[in-house]
Amino acid sequence: MTDKLIIFDTTLRDGEQSPGASMTRDEKLRIARQLERLKVDVIEAGFAASSNGDFEAVQLIANTIRDATICSLSRANDKDISRAAEALKGANRARIHTFIATSALHMEKKLRMTPEQVFEQAKQAVRFARNLVEDIEFSPEDGYRSDPDFLCRVIEAVIKEGATTINVPDTVGYAIPELYGNFIKDLRERVPNSDKAIWSVHCHNDLGMAVANSLAGVKIGGARQVECTINGLGERAGNCSLEEVVMAVKTRRDYFGLELGIDTRHILAASRMVSQTTGFVVQPNKAVVGANAFAHASGIHQDGVLKARDTYEIMRAEDVGWSANKIVLGKLSGRNAFKQRLQELGVQMESEADINAAFTRFKELADRKSEIFDEDILALVSEENVSQHKEQFVFVSLSQHSETGERPQASIVFTVDGKEVKGTSEGNGPVDASLKAIESHVKSGAEMVLYSVNAISGSTESQGEVTVRLQNSGRVVNGVGADPDIVVASAKAYLSALNKLQSKADRVAAQG
Ligand code: KIV
Ligand code: ZN
Repeated sequence: MTDKLIIFDTTLRDGEQSPGASMTRDEKLRIARQLERLKVDVIEAGFAASSNGDFEAVQLIANTIRDATICSLSRANDKDISRAAEALKGANRARIHTFIATSALHMEKKLRMTPEQVFEQAKQAVRFARNLVEDIEFSPEDGYRSDPDFLCRVIEAVIKEGATTINVPDTVGYAIPELYGNFIKDLRERVPNSDKAIWSVHCHNDLGMAVANSLAGVKIGGARQVECTINGLGERAGNCSLEEVVMAVKTRRDYFGLELGIDTRHILAASRMVSQTTGFVVQPNKAVVGANAFAHASGIHQDGVLKARDTYEIMRAEDVGWSANKIVLGKLSGRNAFKQRLQELGVQMESEADINAAFTRFKELADRKSEIFDEDILALVSEENVSQHKEQFVFVSLSQHSETGERPQASIVFTVDGKEVKGTSEGNGPVDASLKAIESHVKSGAEMVLYSVNAISGSTESQGEVTVRLQNSGRVVNGVGADPDIVVASAKAYLSALNKLQSKADRVAAQG
C-alpha cells in the first residue's frame, strides 16, 4: 500500500453530468490542461461511448495530455469498453473505468438482472477490458447500498480478472463518514485478494458529507484514491470537492500522513475556469475557493491576523492561488506586469498571441474600471479563451434606454456566423429588453430556467458576472458573461448559452 493519495478528477465526466454543465470538446481540453498544471494523477475525461462528442473529447485529451493518466468511463459491456479503448489509444497512460450496479434495488429495478447475471457481466467486462489496456478500474455502482457479501464476491472476482483499482461509490450520497469508512475497511479485510488493487472512494454530496465521507474512506478504510471534482461539481448536490479534500489532507498532514502530487497553487484558477465554463457560480463562503474564504471581516480577527497570521488562518491563501496583494493592476500597467500577474494566478496561456489578445481586453477593461482585481483578470482570461473559438453568435454592442415610468428599450448588434445583425425590443427592464432584442432575431424558442448576477469583486465598481441557463428540446445549457455593465454581461451570457445550445449533442447517461 502506497502512502501517496491518488487524486482522480472526474470534473469532465461526473461533474459534466450535472444538468447545464455539459461542455464542448475544446472547453474540456482547456480544463484538462488546467488539471494537468494542477498535477492531478488521473483525469476521467468522459464517457467515450455516450456520444460522438464525448468520444472526440476523450480522444483529444488522450492525445494531448502527457502527465496524467487519462481515463474513460464505460458500462460493463464489450461495445462500450472497445469504444473507450479506441478513444484512449493516444494516451501515455490509459485507464478504462468500467461499472455495473450491485445494489439489490438497482439490479432489480434498473438493470432487471439477477445478482448472478451481474456477477458474470462484471467479470466478463473486466476480462475483456484487461485485454485492451492494463490499468482497469471497476466500480460497483450504488456500492455503498449493496449487500456486503455479494459485493465481496464481485470484488474478489474482478480483481482476479485483472482490475487494478476498486472504487466503491456512494452513488446517492447516503453514507455517514464513520459508517462509510468502516464499510471500506470491512470490504478490504474480507476480500482475500484486496491487496492486489488500489481502493478508491467516490462520494456524492446529497447530505453534504461527500468530502467527510471520502476522508473517512481514506483514514478508516485505507483507500488510497479519492474521486473528486473541481468546486464539487456534479449531479444533484455534486461530488466530493477536489480543493477541499486536497487542502484537508495537506493542511492536516499530521493526521493523514499522506503524500499528494497536487500543485495547489493552481487550484483557484481551476475553480474559476470550471465556474466560468459551466456557469455554476461558486458561493462566497465556499471553503478554499469562495471569495470570502480568506477574508477576515470582524475586527478581532483582523487584529489577530495582522499580529500573527496563524491566529485565524490555517492555510495560506497564496498556496491555493490567491494573491496576497488583491489590487493588482490598472490602466497604466504594462504587458509584462499583466503577464507576470497571469503567472502568479497560475494561468498559462497557449501562445504569445493569446497573451496579446488578453492584454488588449485587459486595457479595454482598465479604461472603464480603475482597479483591476485578480477576479477580473481570471474572468477576462476565461472569456478570452471562449472567444478564441469560432462561435456562431458574438456580441458587438448594445444600447438601451430606461426611465422611470417608461418601458425600457434595447437595441443590440451581434454577429451570426460573422455577419452583423441588429435586434431591437422593449421589455420589463433593460435586461429583459436586451435579451428579447436578441431573440427577435435568433428565435431560438429556448426557455430561460435561471438568471443570476454576481459582482465579481464585491463592489458596484466591480464587473457583473451573469449566468443564464436555457432549456430547449430537453437540453439544458449554461452561458456566462462578464462586464462592468450588467446589461452587457447579460447579453453576452445569453449569446454564450445560445452558442452552447447549437453545439451540444445528446448523450447516453452514465447512470441511466
Ligand atoms: O456515482 C457513481 O456511482 C458513479 C459511477 C459511474 C462510478 O459515478
Ligand atoms: Zn458518481
